[in-house]
Amino acid sequence: MNASGAQQEPDWVDLGPEAAFRDPPLQQVRLGTTAVAVSWRDGVFGAISGVCNHVGGPLGEGRLQGEYVECPWHYWKFHHCTGVGEPGFEADQVPRHLVKVEAGRLFVSRRPVTKRAKSPHAPHALEREPVRAPGPPRVLGISTTSLDPQHPRYSTSEALLESALAHAREAHGAEARLIRLAELEFRPCEGFYSRAAQACTWPCSITQMDPEDQLTEVYEGLVHWADVVLLATPIRWGSASALYFKMVERMNCIQNQITIRDRVLIRDKVAAFVITGGQDNVQGVAGQLLSFFAELGFVFPPFPYVAHSRGWSAEDMENNVRYVQDHAELHEGARQLVERALGTAAALRDSGLCSAKIERGGRKAHRPHREPTGTPESNA
Ligand code: FES
Repeated sequence: MNASGAQQEPDWVDLGPEAAFRDPPLQQVRLGTTAVAVSWRDGVFGAISGVCNHVGGPLGEGRLQGEYVECPWHYWKFHHCTGVGEPGFEADQVPRHLVKVEAGRLFVSRRPVTKRAKSPHAPHALEREPVRAPGPPRVLGISTTSLDPQHPRYSTSEALLESALAHAREAHGAEARLIRLAELEFRPCEGFYSRAAQACTWPCSITQMDPEDQLTEVYEGLVHWADVVLLATPIRWGSASALYFKMVERMNCIQNQITIRDRVLIRDKVAAFVITGGQDNVQGVAGQLLSFFAELGFVFPPFPYVAHSRGWSAEDMENNVRYVQDHAELHEGARQLVERALGTAAALRDSGLCSAKIERGGRKAHRPHREPTGTPESNA
């Protein structure tokens, strides 16, 4: 309304020939700094904010699902004309713009005619700030060997890990937990980071969307609970196990917080490793583990891994099992490893080395690069 009470004409922006907005039927356009998702369905144009309510995904780069625009980042949906959330989520609404077609040209109002509304979403339990609660030392063992829990077999890497955990309990009064990845149902990383760095969220986007996904237990232990993470892997074709890689791809969300928010979730924590294999490449596997856990913020004890390999030409794996079962020195090595790790964790906490603000953590010495247009970096 103007001062006389008459309706003010919207500030129309001419987007061009209307035919250009029918195919593709959903497009992201910019009106100065305002992103608008323009859509066409069943002969009706719609225009809503191009910025998703969740964490700002570009709605116009998503897809039309029926009458709803589906965000390309985590699939929230908003009505393509009204901006109202999908059924059950109507309290979530993105702003709506007016649309008209005149003389074959499409116009949208520069300013939206409705406001953004966000319904309160309870934060995920993992979202809380990590705080080390008082209590005895805590060791989280993660076994990454792949096996069928219904038909267990002797795992050399897991056996050494269990020796270390038992020692932590018995000799140091530590709380020690063992997580076997083979017993967890969890989805592989679905490449949210490849859509945009901001789309890779903490907690992990999959964890937030899928309450059935069981990697939550690992995140909880790693970020919120453990002082020491002791990870055991077999060597498979010269690399760590497939389950190890499936897990660490899902850990990108922890490292990405450092990249995009300077937020270091892992502080005063120590990682150490057990690596065993019938054949070789211990050092190559150790290099991967050390590199990845360093990127998360973990610190390492002196001599941060113990390993055993039968060598390139060994094919008698039944003898390898027997060798590890009977070899007291290997088990003692695993116990000494957890001793060093616990000692390093205690020294870290006493020093406060990692408790102060860590400026520019992460591997990028320079600021992360973004295109001037704000186009998300591709990581395809
Ligand atoms: S669903 Fe749109 S940003 Fe997450």
